[in-house]
Amino acid sequence: MDVGPDSSAVRTALWRALHVEVDAPPHLLDDEIGVALVAPDEGWRDRPDMHPIGTGPYRGAIVARTRFVEDLLVEEGIGQYLLLGAGLDTFAQRHPDRATVFEIDQPGPQAWKRRRLEDLDYGVPAHLRLVPVDFEAGEDWWAALVGAGFDLSARALVSSSGVSMYISKEATIETLDRLAGMAPRSIVAMTFMLPIGLADESDRPGLERARDGAEASGTPWISFFTPEEIVTIAGDAGFVQVDYVSTQELASRYLADRTDELRAASGEGILLART
Ligand SMILES: C[S@@+](CC[C@H](N)C(=O)[O-])C[C@H]1O[C@@H](n2cnc3c(N)ncnc32)[C@H](O)[C@@H]1O
Repeated sequence: MDVGPDSSAVRTALWRALHVEVDAPPHLLDDEIGVALVAPDEGWRDRPDMHPIGTGPYRGAIVARTRFVEDLLVEEGIGQYLLLGAGLDTFAQRHPDRATVFEIDQPGPQAWKRRRLEDLDYGVPAHLRLVPVDFEAGEDWWAALVGAGFDLSARALVSSSGVSMYISKEATIETLDRLAGMAPRSIVAMTFMLPIGLADESDRPGLERARDGAEASGTPWISFFTPEEIVTIAGDAGFVQVDYVSTQELASRYLADRTDELRAASGEGILLART
């Protein structure tokens, strides 16, 4: 089934490319492979959601969250990297020697990505395992992952970036229950949308526009969590250590010394859970 890419995954890939094009160096992330996979029409920079100034805070938040998780993989020296809702992530192409990368995504968009990787001569080498799963379909995604070679006895870093808002809370709870059973010293970094009323007041109109845009594209945001709620869910799942990383923490780590206006919009937090 080759239905084309998921529109939300295209948006984050284009923002990562725009970061390299319009923001001053040093870049938090150098990723122009995602945009090459999408191969959008020449006018993609004129999309309302790509305006370099108005969308800077969202672009900043997206590149900071990706950089945060990739830094974690390197700092912790973990050899298995599992991406839930991987979309157009390109870690496997940018760092082919760093880890075995398992990408879970919906079957249709993932089949499209496989074809594009082949078109661009990246292919799907041994260090990249594409595992087609629809989290809402009630299938045994854990068995599919193990079938793809995921080693349950080895540590893993799991990234779930920009996914929990698109799936039911039940699916997220089931996912965290599963992941809590990973090998000791594994880590889950899962982003989640705060209820918009908890975002900084200045970010709320933009978040409401993004929410409306997501709905209009057929990928509505259906799940929001308070930090306390998601921390409790992860604790109940059995993780040994559970922390909340706010946008402000990401910004002070990655954006504080910048000479341009790039900043990170509030509204999305990160759950950091360790087995
Ligand atoms: C906003 S994109 C994020 C992509 C990537 N993680 C990033 O940060 O750029 C959301 C991703 O979640 C995936 N997704 C949404 N619903 C899903 C489901 N029910 N099962 C599996 N993947 C899903 C989409 O296909 C898409 O790739």
